Amino acid sequence: MHNVRYSAKRLAEIVGATPKQVEGALGRKDGFGPEDLRALREKLRRPPEPFPARVQLFLNFKGGTGKTSISSSYAYRLAERGYRVLMIDLDSQGHATKCLGEEGGRFERTLHDVLIRKVPLEEVTVHTGMPGLDLVPANLAMSTIDLALMPLAGREFRLRNALQGFATRHDFVILDAPPSFGLLNLNALMAANDLVIPVLADFLSYDGLRLLFETIQPRGARRAPHALRRLPPRHRRPAVHQVRAGVERGLTDLRLRRGLEGGDGHRRGPAGDPAPRAARDRRGRRRGGSVTCARPSTPTFRS
Ligand SMILES: Nc1ncnc2c1ncn2[C@@H]1O[C@H](COP(=O)(O)OP(=O)(O)OP(=O)(O)O)[C@@H](O)[C@H]1O
Ligand SMILES: [Mg+2]
Repeated sequence: MHNVRYSAKRLAEIVGATPKQVEGALGRKDGFGPEDLRALREKLRRPPEPFPARVQLFLNFKGGTGKTSISSSYAYRLAERGYRVLMIDLDSQGHATKCLGEEGGRFERTLHDVLIRKVPLEEVTVHTGMPGLDLVPANLAMSTIDLALMPLAGREFRLRNALQGFATRHDFVILDAPPSFGLLNLNALMAANDLVIPVLADFLSYDGLRLLFETIQPRGARRAPHALRRLPPRHRRPAVHQVRAGVERGLTDLRLRRGLEGGDGHRRGPAGDPAPRAARDRRGRRRGGSVTCARPSTPTFRS
Protein backbone atom coordinates (compact mmCIF):
# COMPACT_ATOMS: atom_id res chain seq x y z
CA MET A 1 0.00 0.00 0.00
CA HIS A 2 2.94 2.30 0.62
CA ASN A 3 3.69 2.47 -3.10
CA VAL A 4 0.15 3.41 -4.15
CA ARG A 5 0.30 6.43 -6.43
CA TYR A 6 -2.45 8.67 -7.74
CA SER A 7 -2.66 10.94 -10.76
CA ALA A 8 -4.13 14.42 -10.34
CA LYS A 9 -7.12 13.22 -12.40
CA ARG A 10 -7.82 10.31 -10.04
CA LEU A 11 -7.48 12.47 -6.92
CA ALA A 12 -9.83 14.96 -8.52
CA GLU A 13 -12.40 12.20 -9.12
CA ILE A 14 -12.15 11.02 -5.52
CA VAL A 15 -12.61 14.41 -3.89
CA GLY A 16 -14.97 15.83 -6.52
CA ALA A 17 -12.71 18.56 -7.90
CA THR A 18 -10.87 19.34 -11.14
CA PRO A 19 -7.27 18.20 -11.76
CA LYS A 20 -6.23 21.87 -11.86
CA GLN A 21 -7.73 22.43 -8.39
CA VAL A 22 -5.81 19.38 -7.13
CA GLU A 23 -2.52 20.59 -8.60
CA GLY A 24 -3.11 24.09 -7.22
CA ALA A 25 -3.98 22.84 -3.73
CA LEU A 26 -1.05 20.41 -3.48
CA GLY A 27 1.46 22.62 -5.33
CA ARG A 28 2.69 19.96 -7.76
CA LYS A 29 1.58 18.02 -10.81
CA ASP A 30 2.34 14.41 -9.96
CA GLY A 31 3.79 11.96 -7.42
CA PHE A 32 0.66 11.95 -5.26
CA GLY A 33 0.19 9.30 -2.57
CA PRO A 34 -2.54 8.30 -0.10
CA GLU A 35 -1.19 10.79 2.45
CA ASP A 36 -2.11 13.65 0.07
CA LEU A 37 -5.79 12.81 0.19
CA ARG A 38 -6.43 14.19 3.66
CA ALA A 39 -4.47 17.40 3.02
CA LEU A 40 -6.35 17.84 -0.23
CA ARG A 41 -9.74 17.47 1.44
CA GLU A 42 -8.78 20.01 4.07
CA LYS A 43 -7.46 22.52 1.55
CA LEU A 44 -10.45 22.17 -0.75
CA ARG A 45 -12.87 21.90 2.19
CA ARG A 46 -14.37 18.65 0.93
CA PRO A 47 -15.23 16.59 4.01
CA PRO A 48 -16.94 13.25 3.39
CA GLU A 49 -20.71 13.15 3.31
CA PRO A 50 -22.05 12.57 6.82
CA PHE A 51 -23.08 8.96 7.30
CA PRO A 52 -24.30 7.17 10.43
CA ALA A 53 -21.59 5.00 12.00
CA ARG A 54 -21.87 1.35 10.94
CA VAL A 55 -20.42 -2.04 11.75
CA GLN A 56 -20.48 -4.07 8.53
CA LEU A 57 -19.81 -7.78 8.36
CA PHE A 58 -18.69 -9.68 5.26
CA LEU A 59 -19.64 -13.29 5.84
CA ASN A 60 -20.40 -16.48 4.00
CA PHE A 61 -19.84 -19.93 5.52
CA LYS A 62 -18.66 -21.03 2.09
CA GLY A 63 -14.97 -20.34 1.50
CA GLY A 64 -13.44 -18.45 -1.38
CA THR A 65 -16.44 -16.33 -2.33
CA GLY A 66 -14.53 -13.03 -2.24
CA LYS A 67 -15.19 -11.85 1.33
CA THR A 68 -11.63 -10.69 1.93
CA SER A 69 -11.02 -9.19 -1.50
CA ILE A 70 -14.26 -7.24 -1.41
CA SER A 71 -14.16 -6.15 2.24
CA SER A 72 -10.54 -4.96 2.17
CA SER A 73 -11.04 -3.04 -1.11
CA TYR A 74 -14.25 -1.58 0.27
CA ALA A 75 -12.51 -0.48 3.50
CA TYR A 76 -9.74 1.13 1.45
CA ARG A 77 -12.25 2.96 -0.77
CA LEU A 78 -14.15 4.25 2.26
CA ALA A 79 -10.90 5.65 3.65
CA GLU A 80 -10.13 7.22 0.26
CA ARG A 81 -13.46 8.96 0.53
CA GLY A 82 -12.42 10.52 3.80
CA TYR A 83 -14.14 8.23 6.33
CA ARG A 84 -12.39 6.88 9.41
CA VAL A 85 -12.38 3.14 8.94
CA LEU A 86 -11.40 0.24 11.17
CA MET A 87 -10.89 -3.07 9.41
CA ILE A 88 -10.99 -6.06 11.74
CA ASP A 89 -9.48 -9.24 10.37
CA LEU A 90 -11.30 -12.17 12.00
CA ASP A 91 -9.59 -14.86 9.95
CA SER A 92 -6.47 -16.65 11.16
CA GLN A 93 -5.30 -16.76 7.54
CA GLY A 94 -4.63 -13.02 7.97
CA HIS A 95 -5.53 -12.31 4.36
CA ALA A 96 -7.30 -9.00 5.02
CA THR A 97 -4.21 -7.97 6.99
CA LYS A 98 -2.10 -8.88 3.98
CA CYS A 99 -4.42 -7.11 1.55
CA LEU A 100 -3.91 -3.91 3.56
CA GLY A 101 -0.14 -4.25 3.27
CA GLU A 102 0.73 -5.77 6.63
CA GLU A 103 2.14 -9.16 7.63
CA GLY A 104 -0.04 -10.73 10.35
CA GLY A 105 2.80 -12.83 11.79
CA ARG A 106 4.72 -9.81 13.02
CA PHE A 107 1.97 -8.68 15.38
CA GLU A 108 1.97 -9.95 18.95
CA ARG A 109 -1.64 -9.08 19.59
CA THR A 110 -4.82 -9.68 17.63
CA LEU A 111 -8.56 -9.72 18.26
CA HIS A 112 -7.90 -12.86 20.29
CA ASP A 113 -6.48 -10.67 23.08
CA VAL A 114 -9.46 -8.35 22.90
CA LEU A 115 -12.13 -11.05 23.09
CA ILE A 116 -10.42 -13.40 25.52
CA ARG A 117 -8.31 -11.14 27.75
CA LYS A 118 -10.40 -8.00 27.34
CA VAL A 119 -7.46 -5.94 26.07
CA PRO A 120 -8.93 -2.63 24.80
CA LEU A 121 -9.43 -2.62 21.02
CA GLU A 122 -7.29 0.53 20.65
CA GLU A 123 -4.28 -1.36 21.99
CA VAL A 124 -4.31 -3.92 19.19
CA THR A 125 -5.24 -1.43 16.45
CA VAL A 126 -2.50 -0.43 14.02
CA HIS A 127 -2.39 2.29 11.36
CA THR A 128 -2.03 1.28 7.71
CA GLY A 129 -0.35 3.17 4.87
CA MET A 130 -3.70 4.82 4.09
CA PRO A 131 -4.49 7.69 6.46
CA GLY A 132 -7.84 7.07 8.14
CA LEU A 133 -7.67 3.32 7.65
CA ASP A 134 -6.83 1.36 10.80
CA LEU A 135 -6.51 -2.37 11.18
CA VAL A 136 -6.89 -5.03 13.83
CA PRO A 137 -4.55 -7.63 12.33
CA ALA A 138 -4.96 -11.40 12.42
CA ASN A 139 -2.55 -14.30 12.43
CA LEU A 140 -2.49 -17.95 13.44
CA ALA A 141 -3.21 -16.96 17.07
CA MET A 142 -6.81 -16.46 15.95
CA SER A 143 -7.19 -20.14 15.05
CA THR A 144 -7.98 -21.21 18.62
CA ILE A 145 -10.42 -18.45 19.42
CA ASP A 146 -13.63 -20.50 19.26
CA LEU A 147 -12.22 -22.90 21.82
CA ALA A 148 -11.06 -20.09 24.09
CA LEU A 149 -14.45 -18.35 23.90
CA MET A 150 -16.40 -21.49 24.81
CA PRO A 151 -16.19 -21.31 28.65
CA LEU A 152 -16.44 -17.53 28.91
CA ALA A 153 -19.43 -15.60 30.23
CA GLY A 154 -21.23 -13.54 27.58
CA ARG A 155 -19.21 -15.37 24.94
CA GLU A 156 -21.47 -14.30 22.06
CA PHE A 157 -21.34 -10.58 22.91
CA ARG A 158 -17.66 -9.98 23.45
CA LEU A 159 -17.04 -8.30 20.11
CA ARG A 160 -20.14 -6.15 20.44
CA ASN A 161 -18.98 -5.03 23.88
CA ALA A 162 -15.45 -4.36 22.64
CA LEU A 163 -16.87 -2.15 19.90
CA GLN A 164 -18.97 -0.04 22.22
CA GLY A 165 -18.25 3.62 21.62
CA PHE A 166 -16.40 2.88 18.38
CA ALA A 167 -18.23 5.74 16.64
CA THR A 168 -16.12 8.30 18.48
CA ARG A 169 -13.07 6.98 16.67
CA HIS A 170 -14.35 5.42 13.46
CA ASP A 171 -17.20 5.95 10.99
CA PHE A 172 -17.10 2.38 9.72
CA VAL A 173 -15.97 -0.90 11.22
CA ILE A 174 -15.51 -3.55 8.55
CA LEU A 175 -15.35 -7.18 9.67
CA ASP A 176 -13.81 -9.82 7.39
CA ALA A 177 -15.06 -13.19 8.64
CA PRO A 178 -13.55 -16.64 8.15
CA PRO A 179 -15.63 -19.24 6.31
CA SER A 180 -16.79 -21.17 9.35
CA PHE A 181 -19.57 -21.70 11.83
CA GLY A 182 -18.60 -20.94 15.39
CA LEU A 183 -18.54 -18.52 18.27
CA LEU A 184 -16.32 -15.97 16.55
CA ASN A 185 -18.72 -15.56 13.65
CA LEU A 186 -21.62 -15.52 16.07
CA ASN A 187 -19.88 -12.63 17.84
CA ALA A 188 -19.51 -10.90 14.48
CA LEU A 189 -23.20 -11.38 13.67
CA MET A 190 -24.19 -9.98 17.05
CA ALA A 191 -21.95 -6.93 16.62
CA ALA A 192 -22.88 -6.03 13.05
CA ASN A 193 -25.41 -3.51 11.82
CA ASP A 194 -25.14 -4.72 8.22
CA LEU A 195 -24.44 -8.12 6.76
CA VAL A 196 -22.86 -8.41 3.31
CA ILE A 197 -22.83 -11.92 1.84
CA PRO A 198 -20.56 -12.34 -1.18
CA VAL A 199 -21.74 -15.35 -3.21
CA LEU A 200 -20.51 -17.10 -6.29
CA ALA A 201 -23.16 -18.27 -8.72
CA ASP A 202 -22.57 -21.96 -8.17
CA PHE A 203 -24.30 -24.74 -6.32
CA LEU A 204 -22.06 -24.88 -3.24
CA SER A 205 -22.09 -21.10 -2.72
CA TYR A 206 -25.85 -21.27 -2.86
CA ASP A 207 -25.79 -24.01 -0.26
CA GLY A 208 -23.56 -21.80 1.94
CA LEU A 209 -26.23 -19.12 1.64
CA ARG A 210 -28.90 -21.54 2.79
CA LEU A 211 -26.82 -22.46 5.86
CA LEU A 212 -26.32 -18.81 6.65
CA PHE A 213 -30.04 -18.04 6.46
CA GLU A 214 -30.76 -21.05 8.62
CA THR A 215 -28.28 -19.74 11.20
CA ILE A 216 -29.68 -16.23 11.26
CA GLN A 217 -33.36 -17.11 11.14
CA PRO A 218 -33.91 -18.98 14.41
CA ARG A 219 -32.07 -16.30 16.28
CA GLY A 220 -34.82 -13.90 15.27
CA ALA A 221 -34.73 -10.15 15.39
CA ARG A 222 -32.27 -10.00 18.30
CA ARG A 223 -29.50 -11.30 16.08
CA ALA A 224 -30.78 -10.04 12.77
CA PRO A 225 -28.90 -7.29 10.97
CA HIS A 226 -29.95 -3.65 11.15
CA ALA A 227 -32.38 -3.63 8.21
CA LEU A 228 -34.40 -6.44 9.80
CA ARG A 229 -34.21 -5.03 13.31
CA ARG A 230 -35.86 -1.84 12.09
CA LEU A 231 -38.95 -3.76 11.03
CA PRO A 232 -41.83 -4.13 13.49
CA PRO A 233 -41.56 -7.54 15.20
CA ARG A 234 -44.46 -9.14 13.34
CA HIS A 235 -42.78 -8.38 9.98
CA ARG A 236 -39.31 -9.65 10.83
CA ARG A 237 -39.80 -13.36 10.37
CA PRO A 238 -41.79 -12.94 7.12
CA ALA A 239 -39.02 -10.63 5.88
CA VAL A 240 -36.36 -13.28 6.47
CA HIS A 241 -38.63 -15.76 4.64
CA GLN A 242 -39.09 -13.37 1.75
CA VAL A 243 -35.39 -12.71 1.34
CA ARG A 244 -34.69 -16.43 1.41
CA ALA A 245 -37.46 -17.21 -1.05
CA GLY A 246 -36.24 -14.45 -3.36
CA VAL A 247 -32.69 -15.76 -3.33
CA GLU A 248 -33.89 -19.32 -3.87
CA ARG A 249 -36.09 -18.25 -6.79
CA GLY A 250 -33.31 -16.24 -8.37
CA LEU A 251 -30.69 -18.90 -8.01
CA THR A 252 -32.76 -21.86 -9.08
CA ASP A 253 -33.91 -19.87 -12.09
CA LEU A 254 -30.35 -19.45 -13.20
CA ARG A 255 -28.20 -22.48 -13.70
CA LEU A 256 -24.61 -21.81 -14.39
CA ARG A 257 -22.66 -24.56 -15.99
CA ARG A 258 -18.92 -24.87 -16.18
CA GLY A 259 -18.81 -26.02 -19.77
CA LEU A 260 -20.24 -28.50 -22.18
CA GLU A 261 -18.93 -31.60 -20.43
CA GLY A 262 -18.33 -30.41 -16.88
CA GLY A 263 -20.59 -28.98 -14.22
CA ASP A 264 -24.15 -30.19 -14.48
CA GLY A 265 -23.37 -32.42 -17.46
CA HIS A 266 -24.41 -35.51 -15.51
CA ARG A 267 -28.00 -34.31 -15.14
CA ARG A 268 -30.66 -35.99 -17.21
CA GLY A 269 -31.93 -34.05 -20.21
CA PRO A 270 -35.56 -33.38 -21.08
CA ALA A 271 -37.65 -36.52 -21.47
CA GLY A 272 -37.97 -37.58 -25.07
CA ASP A 273 -34.81 -35.84 -26.26
CA PRO A 274 -32.40 -38.62 -27.11
CA ALA A 275 -29.55 -36.28 -28.10
CA PRO A 276 -26.60 -36.30 -25.70
CA ARG A 277 -26.34 -33.26 -23.52
CA ALA A 278 -23.30 -31.82 -25.35
CA ALA A 279 -25.13 -32.06 -28.69
CA ARG A 280 -28.14 -30.31 -27.21
CA ASP A 281 -25.85 -27.61 -25.84
CA ARG A 282 -24.32 -27.10 -29.26
CA ARG A 283 -27.83 -26.87 -30.74
CA GLY A 284 -28.76 -24.28 -28.12
CA ARG A 285 -25.63 -22.31 -28.90
CA ARG A 286 -26.44 -22.26 -32.62
CA ARG A 287 -29.80 -20.72 -31.70
CA GLY A 288 -27.94 -17.92 -29.99
CA GLY A 289 -28.07 -19.21 -26.40
CA SER A 290 -25.21 -18.96 -23.97
CA VAL A 291 -23.35 -22.12 -23.00
CA THR A 292 -22.69 -20.95 -19.49
CA CYS A 293 -25.98 -19.45 -18.51
CA ALA A 294 -29.53 -20.54 -19.18
CA ARG A 295 -32.91 -20.44 -17.59
CA PRO A 296 -34.18 -23.86 -16.55
CA SER A 297 -37.59 -22.96 -17.91
CA THR A 298 -36.18 -23.36 -21.43
CA PRO A 299 -36.83 -26.91 -22.75
CA THR A 300 -33.12 -27.71 -22.99
CA PHE A 301 -32.69 -27.37 -19.26
CA ARG A 302 -35.90 -28.88 -17.98
CA SER A 303 -34.97 -32.09 -16.21
N1 LIG B 1 -13.24 -9.83 -8.49
C1 LIG B 1 -12.50 -10.93 -8.57
N2 LIG B 1 -12.20 -11.46 -9.76
C2 LIG B 1 -11.47 -12.58 -9.85
N3 LIG B 1 -10.99 -13.26 -8.79
C3 LIG B 1 -11.24 -12.77 -7.60
C4 LIG B 1 -12.03 -11.59 -7.40
N4 LIG B 1 -12.16 -11.37 -6.09
C5 LIG B 1 -11.48 -12.36 -5.49
N5 LIG B 1 -10.92 -13.18 -6.39
C6 LIG B 1 -10.11 -14.36 -6.09
O1 LIG B 1 -10.96 -15.33 -5.50
C7 LIG B 1 -10.24 -16.04 -4.50
C8 LIG B 1 -10.97 -16.00 -3.20
O2 LIG B 1 -11.05 -14.65 -2.79
P1 LIG B 1 -11.05 -14.25 -1.26
O3 LIG B 1 -9.83 -14.77 -0.56
O4 LIG B 1 -11.31 -12.79 -1.21
O5 LIG B 1 -12.33 -15.07 -0.77
P2 LIG B 1 -12.76 -15.34 0.72
O6 LIG B 1 -14.23 -15.53 0.68
O7 LIG B 1 -12.24 -14.28 1.61
O8 LIG B 1 -12.01 -16.71 1.03
P3 LIG B 1 -11.95 -17.43 2.45
O9 LIG B 1 -13.30 -18.03 2.64
O10 LIG B 1 -10.84 -18.43 2.31
O11 LIG B 1 -11.66 -16.38 3.48
C9 LIG B 1 -8.86 -15.40 -4.40
O12 LIG B 1 -7.96 -16.20 -5.10
C10 LIG B 1 -9.04 -14.06 -5.06
O13 LIG B 1 -7.85 -13.63 -5.65
MG1 LIG C 1 -11.15 -14.47 3.43
